[in-house]
Amino acid sequence: MNPASNTVSSPDFALSTPRMRIAPSLLAADFSRLRDDVARIEEGGADLLHLDVMDGHFVPNISFGPSLIEWLRPHSKLFFDAHLMITDPEKYAEAFAKAGCDLITFHIETVDEPARVVDHIRNLGVNVGVCINPTTEIDTIASILSDVDMVLVMSVWPGFGGQKFIADVLPKVRELRKLLAPHQRLEIDGGIDPATIIAAAEAGVDTFVAGSAIFGKDDPVQAMAALRHAAQNEQGA
Ligand code: DX5
Ligand code: ZN
Repeated sequence: MNPASNTVSSPDFALSTPRMRIAPSLLAADFSRLRDDVARIEEGGADLLHLDVMDGHFVPNISFGPSLIEWLRPHSKLFFDAHLMITDPEKYAEAFAKAGCDLITFHIETVDEPARVVDHIRNLGVNVGVCINPTTEIDTIASILSDVDMVLVMSVWPGFGGQKFIADVLPKVRELRKLLAPHQRLEIDGGIDPATIIAAAEAGVDTFVAGSAIFGKDDPVQAMAALRHAAQNEQGA
């Protein structure tokens, strides 16, 4: 059986208005019951499923690859948001597209010709995101900024969940919000909790990754609701 044969995707991602989205990160889930944990947060109203792919080379940790995503795909209608923390995203993007990812985000720090990587991913028929590390400047993505569906700003150093939010990235977030078109998403990743999400929302983030603040809690659905509530209050302010 090819588990990806039932691939589903959520086409509204790039088209809709910049409403707020919560993207639980699977990294903090219990890997012995992933299918159940994904179903739980999907029923509880998650907007995207954030998939942290680590190669033990670009980052000092190893998580999972396309086959795990392929096995999960038939069991969820969530938008699969793949965050590739890998040295050679161009080489592996096709495997992640075939596994059922709806969006593939690569790190700008890993590529020499970002425009080529954007084209390559787009030609695979999926959305394209670019990610910048906490100290990586906006200049590095300027040449492809108008060509991506999403910019992901790391608010921790990639590699591990459960780290402390780096507030120094917020001026960069504010600047990016001004540069991006309304149809382009701005995502933040790392150390998001009910307090830090307020600062991120205020700076203009619309898509919030959270691992330990959701799957690390006894009631992930309630934890997700608390995050959404905090961000919405800020955006409505
Ligand atoms: C870190 C990952 C994050 C991580 C977030 O390299 O990209 O997505 O899972 O975890 P928390 O929300 O616990 O900081
Ligand atoms: Zn991530």
